[in-house]
Amino acid sequence: MLGEDKGMVDDILKDRKLDHINVVLERNPESIHPTLLDDVRIVHNPLPEVDLDDVSLKTNFCGREIPTPLMITGMTGGHPEVEPINEKLARVAQEYGLAMGVGSQRPALKYPELARTYRVARKVAPDIFLVANIGAPQLAREYGIEDVKRAVEMIDADAIAIHLNPGQEAFQKEGDPFYAGVTDKIVEILDHVNVPLIIKETGTGISYEVARELYNIGVKCFDTAGLGGTNWIKVEVLRSLRRGEAPLPAGPLADYWGNPTALAVIETRTAAPGAYIVGSGGIRDGLDAAKVIALGADIAGLALPALRVLIRSGVEGLRKYINSILYQIKSIIFLTGGKRPVDLWRTPITITGRLYEEAKGRGINLTNYINITRINTVGARR
Ligand code: FNR
Repeated sequence: MLGEDKGMVDDILKDRKLDHINVVLERNPESIHPTLLDDVRIVHNPLPEVDLDDVSLKTNFCGREIPTPLMITGMTGGHPEVEPINEKLARVAQEYGLAMGVGSQRPALKYPELARTYRVARKVAPDIFLVANIGAPQLAREYGIEDVKRAVEMIDADAIAIHLNPGQEAFQKEGDPFYAGVTDKIVEILDHVNVPLIIKETGTGISYEVARELYNIGVKCFDTAGLGGTNWIKVEVLRSLRRGEAPLPAGPLADYWGNPTALAVIETRTAAPGAYIVGSGGIRDGLDAAKVIALGADIAGLALPALRVLIRSGVEGLRKYINSILYQIKSIIFLTGGKRPVDLWRTPITITGRLYEEAKGRGINLTNYINITRINTVGARR
């Protein structure tokens, strides 16, 4: 277990970082509610007219060509004991050409001596698309543009993610459920920070309405992080129980609150046709990853499985896991007759069951979505 050496500076922010890592490793923080990706099928092409070796995983993300359509999304930093985690994740990201995010940089903005726990990612991974991270509530109450710039400079980031986590803040006992004024701060960042801004959920999913509003004010990148994977309401409940305290009364919200992953991608792409999208939340294998891309994401993202595999099976285990996901994505592009990840936007898919009903209930015309919106997205991007 991490955090047993208490010889370090004792501070609530830093201890919380360790608590979160320990909780997600010891207990299952994933929601019971599914991603709804099971309701998506990518149609198999029995005559692909392409050679597997001609398939390339290269794609464009936030205006830059990256080697693979896969990202390890932001998790950690901010405690001396988690520095090796960022170091190892980044090492594998560099080897495989993955994009990567660091966790919230709030602790290092407060205690500059902790900057190294994030900076290590850039040190070992000079070429990856690396994303800085700060929370929306802190943006609303604590931070100015200078702090955002410091977070970017701290790791020589290619983009800054502002994470939205109102569910977590509502159920964290010492949480900051402060969201009034966030949109104005986002406008300020768009005006004054010169790297792309990614609006990122954390496991309860971007909605059509929010994507639309933000797209209209100029946000061009989203990480949809939908329901079906790590659920931060559940993490906070489990964290209280682990400390022997009564959790805030989340009830069914810990498993069922949020916009499911598949729907969050469809809604975000519908609302923001020209945006770059990370499809994430419960992505666990190459088929999940290919499905979010086929639904309209540019790249797929995952967090918890990378951490779990790294802690349980080390760097070699993580290499194997990432290699298998990338091979599965490559094979699926081949099996649909494509050559690049963006070709998945044009390939036939079916949407059935609960996802079909929910999209319909949200007023999305799925026939148009499958045949027009996704395909126009290719046109908008090439
Ligand atoms: C996270 N996540 C996260 N997100 C963020 O924007 N800032 C952060 O500091 C963290 N911290 C964090 C710690 C740990 C241990 C985990 C597992 C996750 C959220 C993460 O990036 C992702 O959006 C969700 O976890 C959903 O993806 P998975 O885990 O279902 O693949």
